[in-house]
Amino acid sequence: MDTVLSGIRSTGNLHLGNYFGAIKNFVKMQDENNCYFFIADYHSLTTYPTPEDLHNNVKMVLAEYLAAGLSPEKSAIFVQSDIREIPELYLLLNMNAYVGELERTTSFKEKVRTQSENVNAGLLTYPVLMAADILIHRAHKVPVGKDQEQNLEMARKFAKRFNHMYKVDYFPEPQPYNFGEALVKVPGLDGSGKMGKTSGNGIYLREEPASIKKKVMRAVTDAGPQSENSEMSEPVKNLFTLLKLVSKQEVYEDFNEQYQKAIIRYGDLKKKLAEDIITFTTPLRERIKEIEANTKYLHDVAQMGAEKARINAKQTLKDVREIIGIKSF
Ligand code: TRP
Repeated sequence: MDTVLSGIRSTGNLHLGNYFGAIKNFVKMQDENNCYFFIADYHSLTTYPTPEDLHNNVKMVLAEYLAAGLSPEKSAIFVQSDIREIPELYLLLNMNAYVGELERTTSFKEKVRTQSENVNAGLLTYPVLMAADILIHRAHKVPVGKDQEQNLEMARKFAKRFNHMYKVDYFPEPQPYNFGEALVKVPGLDGSGKMGKTSGNGIYLREEPASIKKKVMRAVTDAGPQSENSEMSEPVKNLFTLLKLVSKQEVYEDFNEQYQKAIIRYGDLKKKLAEDIITFTTPLRERIKEIEANTKYLHDVAQMGAEKARINAKQTLKDVREIIGIKSF
C-alpha cells in the first residue's frame, strides 16, 4: 500500500470548498492507502496565535475533520507538535536547504510583500518544515491543492539532495496526488473565484442555518436571462455549481430549465439552495459539536494517531542519524 500524507493548517474553519475539494477525497483514500492526516500547528505559529487560540484552533479543526469522515481507525490522525521527531528532521534538512531557493518561493515572496513587518525565519523555512512532515513518513503521495505544489516540489528537491549527498536511496520522492476527475472546484458566493475563507464568500460546515440563509440570499447574481437559452454569467453559473453539489438532480434540472426558458426567479433558486445547504450541513454541524464536547474522545484520537505516527518517525530519525553519521558514545 502507498503512504498518503496531508497536513491541514489549523487556521480557520472548514468550508464547503474544503469539503468537496479535498476532504471528501481524503475519506475515500483511507480505504486504499496507508493514510496520515495531521494538523499542522507548528506551521500556524508563523502568525502568532495566542496560546488559547492555538489550542482551540487545533481542537476545532480536529473535530471538523473527524465529523467529515476521517477515521482514526483507518488512518493516523495526529497533531504535528505531538511528534518531536519532526523538528529534529527539520533541523537536519535545514542544513541542505539554500537560503536563495527558499527566498525565491512564491509564497515567501508574497509574505515579504504583504506583511513586511513580520518576515520571520519560520516563514522562510516553511517549506523545510513541510518537507520534514512528508519525509518523516517517507510518503509517496501528497494530496494538496495547487497553492501547495511549489512546496511539494521543494520537498522532492530536499529528498533527492539528501539521497544524492549521502549516496543512498532512502527517501522516496513524494508525488502530488490528484483525484482525477473527482476534483471539484467549489465557487464562492461573491460572484467569482473559489470558495475561500474571506467573509461572506464561503459557507462553513459548522455554520448556523440562519447565517447560511443570509449569506446565500445575499449571493451575487445578475439582471436575469433576457432571452431563452442565453449564456449564464459567472455568478449565476456558480450558484448552479453549488446546487449540483448539494441538491437533488431534479432540483438542479428544474432550475436549469427555468433559466433556459428565461422564467427563473433568483430568489426561489437561492431559497432552495440555502435549504439544501442547510440539510447537507446540519448532520455535520451536530457531529462537530458532539465531538468538541467530548474531550476524552479527542484525547484518545490524538493519542492513538500520535502513537501510529511515532512508529515511522522514530524509525526515520534513527536511519537518518545513522546515514548522516551521528553516533552516540
Ligand atoms: N502547507 C500546507 C497548507 O498550508 C499544510 C501542510 C503542512 C502540509 N505540512 C504539510 C500539506 C505536509 C501537505 C503535506 O495547506
